[in-house]
Amino acid sequence: MNIKNFSLALVLVFAGTSVFAQQKMSKEAINQKVDALLAKMTIEEKVGQMAQITLDVIGKGKDRYTSDEPFSLDKKETEKALLQYHVGSVLNTSNNRARTPQVWYNIINEIQNVAVKKGKNKIPVIYGVDEVHGATYTAGATMFPQQIGQAATFNRALVKEGASVTAYETRASSIPWNFSPILDLGADPRFPRQWESFGEDPFLVAQLGKEMIKGLEGDNNDVSNPFKVASSIKHFLGYQVPVSGKDRTPAIISDQALREYHLPAFKAAIDAGAKTIMINSGLINGVPVHANYKILTKLLREELGFKGLVVTDWGDIENLHKRDRVARNNKEAVMMAINAGIDMSMIAYNYEPFCDDLIALVKEGKVKQSRIDDAVRNILTVKYELNLFEKPTTNIKDYPKFASKEFEKVAYNAAAESMTLLKNTNNVLPLSKTAKVLVTGPNANSMRTLNGAWTYSWQGEKVEEFAAKYNTIVKAIQNKVGAANVTYLPGVSYKMDGKYFEDFADKMDETIAAAKNADVIVLCLGENTYTETPGNLSDLYISDLQTELAKKLAATGKTIVLVLNEGRPRVISKFEKNMSAILQSYLPGNFGGDAIADVLYGDVNPSGRLPYTYPQFPNALFTYYHKPSESTGTTEGVYNYDADYNPQYVFGHGLSYTTFSYSDIKLSSNTLKKGETLEISVNVSNTGKVAGKESVLLYISDLVANDISPDVKRLRGFDKIELKAGESRTVTFKIKPEDIAYVNAELVTTTGEGEFTIQLGNKKANFNYTP
Ligand code: BGC
Repeated sequence: MNIKNFSLALVLVFAGTSVFAQQKMSKEAINQKVDALLAKMTIEEKVGQMAQITLDVIGKGKDRYTSDEPFSLDKKETEKALLQYHVGSVLNTSNNRARTPQVWYNIINEIQNVAVKKGKNKIPVIYGVDEVHGATYTAGATMFPQQIGQAATFNRALVKEGASVTAYETRASSIPWNFSPILDLGADPRFPRQWESFGEDPFLVAQLGKEMIKGLEGDNNDVSNPFKVASSIKHFLGYQVPVSGKDRTPAIISDQALREYHLPAFKAAIDAGAKTIMINSGLINGVPVHANYKILTKLLREELGFKGLVVTDWGDIENLHKRDRVARNNKEAVMMAINAGIDMSMIAYNYEPFCDDLIALVKEGKVKQSRIDDAVRNILTVKYELNLFEKPTTNIKDYPKFASKEFEKVAYNAAAESMTLLKNTNNVLPLSKTAKVLVTGPNANSMRTLNGAWTYSWQGEKVEEFAAKYNTIVKAIQNKVGAANVTYLPGVSYKMDGKYFEDFADKMDETIAAAKNADVIVLCLGENTYTETPGNLSDLYISDLQTELAKKLAATGKTIVLVLNEGRPRVISKFEKNMSAILQSYLPGNFGGDAIADVLYGDVNPSGRLPYTYPQFPNALFTYYHKPSESTGTTEGVYNYDADYNPQYVFGHGLSYTTFSYSDIKLSSNTLKKGETLEISVNVSNTGKVAGKESVLLYISDLVANDISPDVKRLRGFDKIELKAGESRTVTFKIKPEDIAYVNAELVTTTGEGEFTIQLGNKKANFNYTP
């Protein structure tokens, strides 16, 4: 190193230490600080810490629901909220719009200046947003595939790396708290947020959830690190499976099912040190989860040992009174929720009644002072852990990697590995780069549909404004094979007037006519963007107009490659047989267009696997881990009829441009005993002509259980490997008795004695468990 470089290095080291001077405070030191602060605080100050409001409330504007543009803080409203009511947390963006990192810094810095410099106790505000696939509300941020696509990669390292970038870019925007990851079980394809989940499998959700927490919070959960954020696992518990399939409607879930399928991911996340948790907005067995002491205190605190901060979902204390009618008035609702175990209320707008009512409840003895102290302790602890007292804001100038090429590459890799090839008749894919293609469909030329909701705006409606520099599917195809080989016509378009699903015939006839001149049609179908209640759906079939377009194009006799770009598996069985190839792209983010084009033309060999069961009919919705009675046919059951398990594509399905074969399945023993570990290995070979990645999925079936009918099989392990053409590798899994346990009818987690079957690829082997 020459002198010049040496001094530059020193400057950098210094810049690093001066900006990021931080030493993780010990748990004891934080506890002492929190206790000292608590001892100084009045009841009003404590209750204020438990209140969270949305940014528009303190923005200049005509009311609490909108702000003027450009955004600025309303001094009077800000001081009222932060100084008179001592509000401890702010969330969300204003006017539902992404802001640049610099604007974020300006806004949050001003908020902290009021809270810290003018507030008696100098307590910083904790700012939180939903950065669920990249920094949602930051203009210019790197956007990743949504969680459902990340799940399809079956690649732990990619998920962690993506979360790490998200943490960096969130902190670069001065925001220390992220309402992510979503650990709901995406077991119902009708639900409008299935794409926010890691899919239907409890093990996959738990494994990838842990990775995301490590990416967001760091391996040691040291969130004083200015490149890390506090995560918020959500929505505890059983959120995505209401009876109707519609958001925030009642779910009926037995305690056994809650523990068997929904709890494991949250338990794993809590064990992985997740700092905060958000509660399910809905009802389970008639009881709103926000008022459920058994779930929020007995289960979450006492049984799972969660020590962090518990925040409500949006307006959900008010909902106990106004929607669910379990409370006569707001005050009763506040009492129920806080006594059930809520620490912070995401009030959103009208914070005064929450604060006033809670203060009165404490004075009347209806909420114990000790419950308030516990809640505030949890909140202050996270604020100390995030180092907000020392450094209430972070600033973009210290984040040179924001939106860098390095980060874009991580997002591209995740998009490319998420691509799931569902069908490839006669190897029509990869396409020749000289073929004349007609690219059509409502998703062909849209950055909005590639990203989905929670992208620069809540419903994704502002994506085009912020993502113009990225490539849509048609643009990426043109870039690859030249514009002369590509004709683009939408065929059908989505209305952009706030109706999320409606589409209209846009040049349908012209599109069919154009098909005649093409060698291949790349048909891009799916959904427009949505989340939460605006995404509720009454018909799981893909829309009528898209079906009509697909059928009319098929009638031309041309080869059709269907590219699906959708948040949930819309039923395509009315025309699936007419498609030569089908590529599921989910919601792949800003680099989705490039990744799709790379797969279509063979520059990337697809390796994604379905993280859910793709249904063939709307009235036949299954998860792969159903009971034998759901799939037993004439040969196995006593009755002479078939339960008709008939998915379009099974969980874990995904093709490659090469072929893999499995051989030599070996077990370290054919019996497993309590306290022992079974080693299972299999040889995987790439028997095709090109290199490829393979997700090796380990399924285990418990052949007979004593009380609860066992699931036909369960995913108990997975590993992703890359093999060159002709290459082989041995993949090994280690299984302990608790890895193959189930929750029995008495709610005890137990491993059944007897025979188990292992399935790896098309190979099977059996072993016995004896306790
Ligand atoms: C959603 C949450 C989200 C919150 C804050 C709610 O409506 O259900 O997932 O974190 O809003 O934006």
